[in-house]
Amino acid sequence: KRNFAPQFLKMSFLKEIDRRRTFGIISHPDAGKTTLTEKLLLFGGAIQEAGAVKNNKIKKGATSDFMEIERQRGISVATSVLAFIYKDKKINILDTPGHKDFAEDTFRTLTAVDSVIVVIDVAKGVEEQTEKLVEVCRMRNIPMLVFINKLDREGKDAFDLLDEVEQKLGLRVTPMSFPIGMGYDFKGIYNIYEKKLNIFSGDNKQGISAGIEFNDIKNTELDEVVGESAAETLREELELIYEVYPKFNNLEYLEGKLQPVFFGSALNNFGVKELLDAFIEIAPRPQPKRAEERLVDSKEEKLTGFVFKIHANMDPKHRDRLAFIKIVSGTFKRNAPYLHVRNGKKVKFSSPNTFFAEKKEIVDESFPGDIVGLHDTGNFKIGDTLTEGEQLNFKGIPSFSPEHFRYVNNADPMKSKQLFKGLDQLMDEGVAQLFTLGMNGRKIIGTVGALQYEVIQYRLEHEYGAKCSYENINVHKACWVQAEDPKNEEFKEFKRVKQRYLAKDKQGQLVFLADSAFTIQMTQSKYPTVKLHFTSEYE
Ligand code: G4P
Repeated sequence: KRNFAPQFLKMSFLKEIDRRRTFGIISHPDAGKTTLTEKLLLFGGAIQEAGAVKNNKIKKGATSDFMEIERQRGISVATSVLAFIYKDKKINILDTPGHKDFAEDTFRTLTAVDSVIVVIDVAKGVEEQTEKLVEVCRMRNIPMLVFINKLDREGKDAFDLLDEVEQKLGLRVTPMSFPIGMGYDFKGIYNIYEKKLNIFSGDNKQGISAGIEFNDIKNTELDEVVGESAAETLREELELIYEVYPKFNNLEYLEGKLQPVFFGSALNNFGVKELLDAFIEIAPRPQPKRAEERLVDSKEEKLTGFVFKIHANMDPKHRDRLAFIKIVSGTFKRNAPYLHVRNGKKVKFSSPNTFFAEKKEIVDESFPGDIVGLHDTGNFKIGDTLTEGEQLNFKGIPSFSPEHFRYVNNADPMKSKQLFKGLDQLMDEGVAQLFTLGMNGRKIIGTVGALQYEVIQYRLEHEYGAKCSYENINVHKACWVQAEDPKNEEFKEFKRVKQRYLAKDKQGQLVFLADSAFTIQMTQSKYPTVKLHFTSEYE
């Protein structure tokens, strides 16, 4: 009955899959994500000098500066995917905004990565944004590597930091390298994985030494290189590490049960090569992905992929957008007809973009793990699936309850068509969420950060010629409603009593807009067969 029995393809295709590593770097702003990305690109020869990757963060205090928002949007398309080749591996780094108002963008990008690197500032330790992002990765069992950065500065004790990572992030760590001293006294890093010592020299900033092999840490040469007392401390610390921490195990890492930790200084390009060398060895190849219908393996012959990001064109005169597709299986071919599953239409792309360093160019073929950018005039929505004909819907791009809610009003009655079109497209892009109240049809915009309201207002005006105004509404959380039995009296009563607070999201799912945590609790105990969820996708 199934015409879509997966078929697996030939060697050259399997090789392409095997060489791909697609990942994201997550961190709290300022921990060094941009600097690390840049150093990784330098290794790949993708850029020639430091400073080439623009900092994609919104400057502090610039929240209402629209030029800054536009600048930010311009940069974020350029850095959406940074690809390079290193030791014959094709590496795709997916950019994740660090600013908390764009956390939802980051969550969605995490659905397209096969693993992540978590960057932590040695002095600041585990920070708030890192905690939230790691929690999402943990829930999805995404393999994580930890890079503790800025070892050239005075910071926390390495063991204390490992403890903090375990406790605050809920991880199970195994140090793959270990620092010798720190800050002013920073002497270098011992690579436990390769049994090599790398000496830090502050004045030779970009230099990468091959490292000195120390198969036996008892070797007295160590004392000569780092000094007697540092050598002794290192020996004791390593002994403790072998005793206390689990040994590295590739499978456990791939299953998200063990997180290797590296130390270094991105700015000084120290410890970065070790991180990258280990990464290409141990990090996962393009992973299978679950669709509602079945599990799709990357080695299947037929193309499947999904949209995880949509970027509007910077030029307001062209309503052209770039949809970012993660290829899950098969080969994406230029001009081949694909099925856009949600709207049931066949589509072809004459100029799919691929990304290389900070450039994008047209490609004929892309493989699982790759990201292609497709020009779109408004047909794509985040989460959409492309196939060669199979009815398949990839899971895992849920909406989370927004943190802020406001009524949106039309401020120019002559332009209501433009307003609705603009709102519709901005929501498809994932800028914010729109809810429509069942009672009176009023529209409510929910966002993760207050900044989005300004972005929406600005973009509606400049891209769609529409004006909007906002009005406060007291909503604490949006809860997606799941009725155990939609026909029972309890659900009917719930709908009657809560009528004023019930809305539909853009997919038409029923949402309860609760005004407080207390309301949620009370509602849940009064109507136990009506389940309230904080995300739009639930089991
Ligand atoms: P982010 O993307 O995570 O927000 O961080 P980013 O790389 O922009 O780094 C934040 C700041 O930390 C930058 O300094 C950067 O130079 C510095 N930094 C990154 N890695 C290291 C390191 O290993 N050691 C030291 N000492 N500093 C590091 P800035 O002054 O904010 O910016 P800039 O003027 O240097 O660009």
